[in-house]
Formats: sequence, structure tokens, C-alpha cells
Amino acid sequence: MSEFLLEGVAEKHELHMRELLYGQLISRSLAVAAELGVPDLLATGARSPTAVAEALGAHPESIRRLLTGLAAYGVFVADEAGRFALTPRGATLRAQAPGTAHPTALLVGREVGATWAELGTTMRTGKPAFDQALSSEFFKFLADRPQTREVFHQSQSAAVAAELSDLFDQIDVRRYRQVVDIGGGDGSLLCVILEKATTAKGVVFDLPEVREHADARIADVGLTDRCSTAVGDFFEAVPRGGDLYILSRILHDWSDEDAVRILRTCHASMGAGSSLLILEYLLDERSTGAPARAAAVMDLYMLSLFGATGGHERTAAEFGSLLERAGFVTTRQVSLRSGVAAIEAAPAAERVAAT
Ligand SMILES: C[S@@+](CC[C@H](N)C(=O)[O-])C[C@H]1O[C@@H](n2cnc3c(N)ncnc32)[C@H](O)[C@@H]1O
Repeated sequence: MSEFLLEGVAEKHELHMRELLYGQLISRSLAVAAELGVPDLLATGARSPTAVAEALGAHPESIRRLLTGLAAYGVFVADEAGRFALTPRGATLRAQAPGTAHPTALLVGREVGATWAELGTTMRTGKPAFDQALSSEFFKFLADRPQTREVFHQSQSAAVAAELSDLFDQIDVRRYRQVVDIGGGDGSLLCVILEKATTAKGVVFDLPEVREHADARIADVGLTDRCSTAVGDFFEAVPRGGDLYILSRILHDWSDEDAVRILRTCHASMGAGSSLLILEYLLDERSTGAPARAAAVMDLYMLSLFGATGGHERTAAEFGSLLERAGFVTTRQVSLRSGVAAIEAAPAAERVAAT
């Protein structure tokens, strides 16, 4: 049972259910707090609600109730003088916190979260709630809106720090010479890999409009000598010459048929001895533990974005079957603390030839 939910009254299903339902109000309050900059302000020291409202040009009584409401969820804490401070949980909403949840709060609080009002349409028709609400497909919407795209890639980038922190305890990336991150977004994951694999080179491959975000990130971390960007469509072709190909949170955006097409495109560019690394949550329909809940929420998210015949989360067996259809064998699978699975695979023919 999550610590968010009423402790000691888990048997009170009526209360538990109401807390889940009112969760939408908590989610929106968190998003508003992030948007107003409350966490960043409180990171500089505890303040009274009036002082917070004054600094942010907001309404004092409303801010007092926002702070009090979110304090009940462990986001802020009040001292005896009535000043509010940031807790470690609340600190994750600071814009520059490692693994920050700030850009995710903005997405949930703005366009993306607003489209969830159309989930009923998805249930009745199978069509994406996103397209229904905003009259655009998700990636087309991002292509047309640089600011939302920037927030989306910041959110993806922060998830690398939040969800993949123990990846390198499990996988030794120093053995690779040339890493290709397919749909690599702003390059955050590849940059972290190249910081570990200090002699390796890398390519971030993504859609043309994403290149500027990756170029900026690569320059920011001083990796322009070892990391480049390439643009294209992973249904057509991906760069050749890598000994490690990464698909991080790519396959869950696509139907099984499309996922197999992407895997086959990768297969076609992979040379002898190259490896594939897939990073995705794993669905587990029989569990209510934290990793299974994270995967389940992500699956509903994908349903809202891509509809019933589009992207979805998968079980380990379903990934195995996709890989087999595309000519790969799974060589290893490990679970990270966040519940994200790292699935390693190799082109089947290579493996057969090697054994
Ligand atoms: C969910 S994001 C994952 C980003 C990154 N791999 C990560 O784990 O943070 C999906 C990525 O796929 C890219 N993408 C979508 N369609 C693509 C296509 N047809 N060809 C190449 N990249 C594509 C998007 O631009 C986006 O960066």
C-alpha cells in the first residue's frame, strides 16, 4: 500500500477510493505550486504563506490553503510560527533538482493532463484522448510547439536521473566503443553513458526538430568531441556502425507491428557483435507493488496518447516475442530500483554464429 494512501485504514475501502478520486485535485495543486515557483522559493528558506504570496504575486489565503493541503501530503512542512519549508519530497519539484519532477508537473498541469478529460472517448471508441482533445497526434503536436517540446524533453531527461540511477551498477557500458541512442531525445541518457565510457563515442538519433535540444545538451556537458546528432525516421533507417544500440522508452509509444518495424530497422544497421539495450517499464498484471503501479500508470498514459491500437506497456514475455519476431535473442534482463527493466538482446544470427 502506498504511503500516500491512508495509513492504518487500508481496510476502509470507501475512504481509500475517495482519496484516489480526489488525487486529481492533489495532482493539480502540485502542478500549480510548481508553475508558480513555490518549491524554488521555499528552497531559499521557510516562509509564511503571506510572504510566499507576496514574493510570487499570488493570493495570500489561497496560498495558505495550498501550502497546508500539500503539507498533508508531505510536500511542505509547517513550523510552530506558521512558516512553511520544503521537505525532501517537495524538493523534487524544484526546477533544477536532480531528477526534477518540475517539467512533469508542467506537462500534467497543462496540455497533456488536460487531455485526460477525454479518456471516456478512448474507452468508447479506442481513439487517443490526446488527439480528441487537441486535434493533433502527440509527436506532431510536439513538432509544432517548441515550448511544449522543450518541457517534454526536460521531463524525459529528468526521468533518466530519477529512474535509471542504478543502470550502471547492472550494465558495464565501458566495454562499448560507439553507442547509438535511437529516439535519444535531448541526449541526456547518452551523455551520462559517455561520461562513464570515457573513450566511447556516441550518436543521438531522433526527429529533425529534436536535434537542437540534443545539440544544446551535448554542448552543455562538454561532449561535442565525442557525441554527435543524426536525424531521421526510425521506421526508415538508423545510423550504422554502433556496437551498442539503445531504445529507451521508444517501443512503448508504438503498436506491436510498429515496434517490430523499429526493431528490424535497428537490426538492419547492427553489425557483427553489436548489442541492443531496451529500457522500459514491465507490466505485471498480478502485482500491486510500486513498479507494477508505475508501469500501469504509464500504460494508461500511453493509451491516452496513442489510443487502443497504438503504444502500450508490455510484459517481459511480450518484449521477448517482439524481439524474436524482429530477429533478436534476449541475452539478459535486469530490473532497476525504479521498476524499469533493462533488456539486452543481440541479432539472432550473430548469436547462432558465435555459439
Ligand atoms: C518517449 S521519448 C523517449 C526519449 C528518450 N529515449 C528517453 O528515454 O528519454 C520518444 C522519442 O522518440 C522520438 N521519435 C518519435 N518518432 C520518431 C521517429 N519516427 N524517428 C525517430 N525518432 C522518433 C521522439 O522525438 C522522442 O524523442
